[in-house]
Amino acid sequence: MLGVCYYPEHWDESRWETDARRMVELGISFVRIGEFAWSRIEPSRDTFTFEWLDRAIDILAKAGLQIVFGTPTATPPKWLVDECPDILPYDRDGRPRGFGSRRHYTFSSQTWWRESARIVGIIAERYGRHPGIVGWQTDNEYGCHDTTMSWGPEDLKGFKRWLRLRYQSVDQLNAAWGSVFWSMELNSFDEVVLPNLTVTEPGPASRLDFWRYQSEQVAAYDRMQCDIIRKHSPGRWITHNFMGFTLDFDHFKVGDNLDLASWDSYPIGFVEKFPFSEDERNRWAETSHPDIAPFHHDLYRAVGKGRFWVMEQQPGPVNWAPWNPVPKPGMVRLWTWEALAHGAEVVSYFRWRQATFAQEQMHAGLNLAGLDEWSPGGQEAGRVAEELAALGTLPETDTAPVALVFDYQSHWMTKIQPQGRDFRYEELCFRWYEALRRLGLNVDFVRPGAGLEGYALVVVPCMTEVDEATRAALEAATGIVLIGARSGSRDRTFRFPENLPPGPLADLTGNRVVQVSTLRPGLSDPVDGAVSGAGIRWREYIETSGSVLATFEDGSAALTQKGRALYLACWADEALLSDVLTLAARQAGLSTLSVPDFIRIRRRGNLVFAFNYGTRDWTLPEGAVPVLGETVLRPQGVAAWRTA
Ligand code: GAL
Repeated sequence: MLGVCYYPEHWDESRWETDARRMVELGISFVRIGEFAWSRIEPSRDTFTFEWLDRAIDILAKAGLQIVFGTPTATPPKWLVDECPDILPYDRDGRPRGFGSRRHYTFSSQTWWRESARIVGIIAERYGRHPGIVGWQTDNEYGCHDTTMSWGPEDLKGFKRWLRLRYQSVDQLNAAWGSVFWSMELNSFDEVVLPNLTVTEPGPASRLDFWRYQSEQVAAYDRMQCDIIRKHSPGRWITHNFMGFTLDFDHFKVGDNLDLASWDSYPIGFVEKFPFSEDERNRWAETSHPDIAPFHHDLYRAVGKGRFWVMEQQPGPVNWAPWNPVPKPGMVRLWTWEALAHGAEVVSYFRWRQATFAQEQMHAGLNLAGLDEWSPGGQEAGRVAEELAALGTLPETDTAPVALVFDYQSHWMTKIQPQGRDFRYEELCFRWYEALRRLGLNVDFVRPGAGLEGYALVVVPCMTEVDEATRAALEAATGIVLIGARSGSRDRTFRFPENLPPGPLADLTGNRVVQVSTLRPGLSDPVDGAVSGAGIRWREYIETSGSVLATFEDGSAALTQKGRALYLACWADEALLSDVLTLAARQAGLSTLSVPDFIRIRRRGNLVFAFNYGTRDWTLPEGAVPVLGETVLRPQGVAAWRTA
């Protein structure tokens, strides 16, 4: 169940055999290669130098390793950029983003599609049936380095094409965008401009369409690669390695192309990327916050329709965050087990050996820089391999009792129109997830529109546009449904629903939102009743035909209930959120746990895992007989026991 990312092109050929042998000795079964090697595969147009790669693949395969080939499209070589400058992306200020790092292409460029199809086809044809190749990775981390969006001439062309198809007539476009406002009406599709470089904010509906357009481009581009690979490489699976906290495109749509999802887990780097408080950042600097990696495991399990890998696991300090601490001893092992506990099929470390040169010199590997010598992370990986061998096959992952409806478009819509600067969709979902996990609950992420039957509890932190399928799924849900503020607040074209928010959820919730207030940091609105705490950041004034379970200080409803549907009319602070989710879980008939905030529990079939992110010991529940770890769970420790 372990893998590693390897760059044979970074090391002298005389070392490859030793590398392959030591991988196997460590307990590694999978090796990913190739994803940045274009300049070594095709140093100039139509000149191919595959021989080195043939030898590398043969050596790895002979050693018994199963190879995952990454298509090299994240790094178009210099000759190609010079020949076809129209593949370059543009930043929001309209400047080209040039050659010299990676991801320097726009999904809108038709030249780029042609060139991608060409190189992917040639590689897939050459290696597609090689017995050592078991799977493929398309590209590398779509959207990384802010590359979903591009704002150049090719993007404008593509956007116009997309709009023509979608709206057929410019009158329909004007109507959908509300262009009469501020005299933004257009006389033809030729007059469309990109929604950047304006004096003040461009129209929200046009921005949303541009976002949808870019998101669809990513999925379509990925599908193009998948189709080519499938043609040449029968019987092999395809994945893509997604990034953490990247919400610029709809990952579910890319997931539809794939056999399984994978993601790149850099838990400590993400502590700096996510809007944590400084206190939290300091507290979790060397372990990561206990829900960062799990949040993504559960999300990507959904994106992969039940199947996911960690394609890149942080093995030590990274190089790219503002600060890059060494993980506490034990964390590499803990993260690996935690991914497996969440259902990962494979955890693959990035990277085999720390590079001695270039951009990622300061990034740890399983081996010390340039050497054949295990790093501390490499030693921990070896320990996991031994433990896995001792434990035997892990049970199947089963459905969780709780579903969290996760919607990329709600991120786009709330970013386009935050109304309060700190209304951040990913943060909201993360906090709901964190509160559920602190109750000891397993959580499944569910895409909008998917069926919700069977879940005891369904939570919707926020879903701005509730489409018909999601409305129907929520109404058909058999469990308790908890809906958060701002849900159903806009329609497909960013308009208010005719019946006011929550629009399509009015019947289900019995509510109508008549006013909204956003609260600057430091302000809050106390809530009391069946639950207590405070609303922060966002607060609604609602009328309800349901029952009022808790009120704000002015007496208006904060938490309502109609039948199975609860509605929370604010962004809840920690205390309120914990109370609301406890109440919802109780109504759903779920038994919850109370564990310290540095402990997390996760069930995989009949195996229960516990993880200690803290600085103190924790004792396993009575009767738990550990099959992994010990009864007293030390800091950074992992334990597992079986249940009936
Ligand atoms: C990932 C990327 C890898 C490597 C790694 C460093 O985002 O896919 O190629 O750059 O980060 O942490």
